[in-house]
Amino acid sequence: MLLVTGGAGFIGSNFVLDWLAEHDEPIVNLDSLTYAGNLRNLDSLAGDPRHQFVRGDIGDSRLVAGLLAGHPIRAVVHFAAESHVDRSIHGPEAFIQTNIVGTFRLLEATRAHWAALDAGGREAFRFVQVSTDEVYGSLTPDAAAFTETHRYEPNSPYSASKAAADHLVRSYHHTYGLPVLTTNCSNNYGPFHFPEKLIPLCILNALSGRPLPIYGDGRQVRDWLYVKDHCAAIRRVLAAGRPGETYNIGGWNEQANLDVVRTLCGILDEERPRADGHSYSEQIEFVKDRPGHDRRYAIDARKLERELGWRPAETFATGIRKTVRWYLDHQAWVADVTSGGYREWIETQYASSGSAP
Ligand code: NAD
Ligand code: TYD
Repeated sequence: MLLVTGGAGFIGSNFVLDWLAEHDEPIVNLDSLTYAGNLRNLDSLAGDPRHQFVRGDIGDSRLVAGLLAGHPIRAVVHFAAESHVDRSIHGPEAFIQTNIVGTFRLLEATRAHWAALDAGGREAFRFVQVSTDEVYGSLTPDAAAFTETHRYEPNSPYSASKAAADHLVRSYHHTYGLPVLTTNCSNNYGPFHFPEKLIPLCILNALSGRPLPIYGDGRQVRDWLYVKDHCAAIRRVLAAGRPGETYNIGGWNEQANLDVVRTLCGILDEERPRADGHSYSEQIEFVKDRPGHDRRYAIDARKLERELGWRPAETFATGIRKTVRWYLDHQAWVADVTSGGYREWIETQYASSGSAP
């Protein structure tokens, strides 16, 4: 079976749901349920014996060692992290603790478990480090997209903490022989995306008549990938990736932030027109830029295509419409995640821009 960390978050919960839709191999899902973790994402698995949820911290070595000893774990798929760049700017400490120290402790527990397996078990074992394109830093407009050999140049506390974790993972392969695989993926979007991130934030702000906050000039470029394509890529890397290798995952879909938000507004204008007949794009508002804001990310995912035959199934046009419809159809989920602590964050981050509720 698999040990999945962070499986109540955005990508982790999509991965758990997709995995169990495709396989009968069970999952132990370890998640500490920070503000970003939400068991409602996994409601459809209620009563499913293939899914065992454990609330706990990846940095709790005794807990993790107990889970590894108590279950026939043949792979760890490591999603758990603090993941929001703006939060890392307000308070980097949690990013250091979870992304670096937590990953280190998870690696130590995994190494001890792996070393005690028989030769066949050690050979077949895998540790998948789910990482980000942000470790490569920022590209100029004309630069070639990131390949796996691009040097690490992280610019935010978030990306620096993920880079540190990636280096630790790499070292556990080179030093101890742990069969690790690292994936560096571009920006994801889709169901269960926590509405602190650009796409769900703008969908929800649009529907509730609030401003759509664009940092700086809105010409920063991200390479957007539908979350289920990311999950499929991880499944492929787990099944056939070469231990010690890294694989870039991306959507071949570079878009400026302003264009993404205009696209969202156009879809919402069709799917849920404003009562006054005006476009949601009238709610776009330029706000203070993010400090150290990376200008452009772009992923060259040819290695994954060449070696493992993966390509994204969704285009941005199909994926973003599905995503908007998902938010329109899941108002109870939205109401649940936008209560309490969420409102405090929005007030802190957008207070001076007038985008707070
Ligand atoms: P998320 O913030 O939505 O979810 C993170 C999950 O980890 C939450 O369920 C949270 O409760 C859990 N968690 C946090 N700290 C923990 C700890 N100490 N112990 C146990 N659980 C803990 O994040 P996401 O967007 O789903 O990202 C998942 C992973 O994918 C991260 O490692 C992130 O760096 C990486 N990634 C994300 C993107 C993206 O666009 N979101 C792109 C590339 C890579
Ligand atoms: P985000 O979803 O936070 O992902 P990341 O910073 O990991 O790329 O942001 C995506 C882009 O959108 C990024 O360039 C920052 C920008 N952005 C805004 O312009 N306004 C916002 O309110 C947010 C949250 C992000």
